[in-house]
Amino acid sequence: MNSDSDLQIAGDILEVAHLLQAPREHPATVAEFVGLARSIAADRSQWEHLVRYDATSRWYHRLRTGPGYEVWLLSWVPGQGSGPHDHGRSSGVLTVLDGTLTERTDRGTRALRAGAQRVFAPGYVHEVDNDTLEPAVSLHVYYPGLTEMPMHTAPHCEALSEPGALTA
Ligand SMILES: [Fe+2]
Repeated sequence: MNSDSDLQIAGDILEVAHLLQAPREHPATVAEFVGLARSIAADRSQWEHLVRYDATSRWYHRLRTGPGYEVWLLSWVPGQGSGPHDHGRSSGVLTVLDGTLTERTDRGTRALRAGAQRVFAPGYVHEVDNDTLEPAVSLHVYYPGLTEMPMHTAPHCEALSEPGALTA
């Protein structure tokens, strides 16, 4: 406690409801989008039954939509990867729910284990792969919703003209 402050709260702050911020129905800040992803990650009943491992391509499912944002669930079998890409004008929060994913950027390589989160701004280029021998599951929040995912020749190179499969 700061003893230099004269500010004190007398009584029960919950009795002055008009001074409290109403809880928001939808996230609006980076911290709130991260919090949304964490809350979904922590509640496996929201996503576990929707996981599908498809050996022919990464399987993805739109879990939730809200004003200006989308939440996607992705399932990765060993060896599956996104290829180098950006996310158009979307910002995003990537959260690993199960297993381990490897993210490659022009700054290096990092292993993202269950619980790891990455927040990225529009134009961020990365490549995400399941380099392990176990399947992996990830959660992707995009704001605004992902409308394009330009593919790159390498994490630090110019975008190619051909569109890639959405979400990663
Ligand atoms: Fe991505």
